[in-house]
Amino acid sequence: AHLYPPNLQNSCLRQAKCRAKGGAAGFKVAILGAAGGIGQPLAMLMKINPLVSVLHLYDVVNTPGVTADISHMDTGAVVRGFLGQPQLENALTGMDLVIIPAGVPRKPGMTRDDLFNINAGIVRTLCEGIAKCCPNATVNLISNPVNSTVPIAAEVFKKAGTYDPKKLLGVTMLDVVRANTFVAEVLGLDPRDVDVPVVGGHAGVTILPLLSQVKPPCSFTQEETEYLTNRIQNGGTEVVEAKAGAGSATLSMAYAAVKFADACLRGLRGDAGVVECAFVASQVTELPFFASKVRLGRQGAEEIFQLGPLNEYESGLFCLLHLCFQDWLGESEERVSWKH
Ligand code: NAD
Ligand code: LMR
Repeated sequence: AHLYPPNLQNSCLRQAKCRAKGGAAGFKVAILGAAGGIGQPLAMLMKINPLVSVLHLYDVVNTPGVTADISHMDTGAVVRGFLGQPQLENALTGMDLVIIPAGVPRKPGMTRDDLFNINAGIVRTLCEGIAKCCPNATVNLISNPVNSTVPIAAEVFKKAGTYDPKKLLGVTMLDVVRANTFVAEVLGLDPRDVDVPVVGGHAGVTILPLLSQVKPPCSFTQEETEYLTNRIQNGGTEVVEAKAGAGSATLSMAYAAVKFADACLRGLRGDAGVVECAFVASQVTELPFFASKVRLGRQGAEEIFQLGPLNEYESGLFCLLHLCFQDWLGESEERVSWKH
């Protein structure tokens, strides 16, 4: 089913078995949308990840070239390419983790919500494949608008009878990566030493950085707080405008996606204390889906943490977020039922 001749196929299978025997956890990971702006660097970085034994690259265009290219890297994971809808099921069968960066990106002047009509259909088809071929896989959903594509994926899995809310994770790691970077700049620290929880959703005012909970403990002036909040909320638009029509964040997103996928794989392996922010089905607020810190384990997001104490500024932002989200989710529910 994949793009190699049969003799190479067999040798790849032997390699995969042999490498799995080598003691590594050896997870099977599929990237859907693997030939895109995010997909290509994401595929490259996942090929380097020692927790990955098999890497499936699926797209509707260009996977043969991307697969041939990445497969020459002398790292452990065996890479296979899959092209077009008829090969989707083979791409998904047996996968432990499915990462989805498939879909169209923004151009200047657009909101993430403007992508809904195209991307909702793409996500729906891909999730139908997941429900059929790897219903127990953890799903990392990157395609925008994340605030709506995650509820849509949940509906698809519910309809198929395979929905496990712990295993459906909207990727908001880029907001955390940006927050760590911008806060470190203001504090004069190495970003690797900074940890900023970012909760809520993944669009404009629904992105809520909790600057009062930054580690290491620190304080900001009101001016710094407003600058940082605004920059973190609009980080995506900053990149869209700088790329001037050539797309949205791809390289920093691939980095963030791999950071998050690696955390999911460490959780699946059984590592203790793996905690990251993700957009998940949640009872932390009144909203059905919400990004907050989650503990990642063998079953996916095994524990969802409360937001912790918010200061006055953050409480104000939370009220605004809540209002926007109610509209947003109401709309997505209508759209989900319309699509069905
Ligand atoms: P891109 O256009 O460069 O790549 C998208 C890829 O998806 C293309 O290769 C395309 O062929 C593929 N694709 C389209 N339909 C498909 C289908 N039915 N099945 C499989 N693959 C399909 O776009 P990009 O820059 O890689 O961005 C992809 C998505 O990620 C966009 O929706 C973008 O808004 C989103 N994004 C999310 C975040 C986040 O933080 N969650 C960050 C950046 C971008
Ligand atoms: C981002 O935050 O960079 C992505 O959601 C892409 C976008 O459209 O902003």
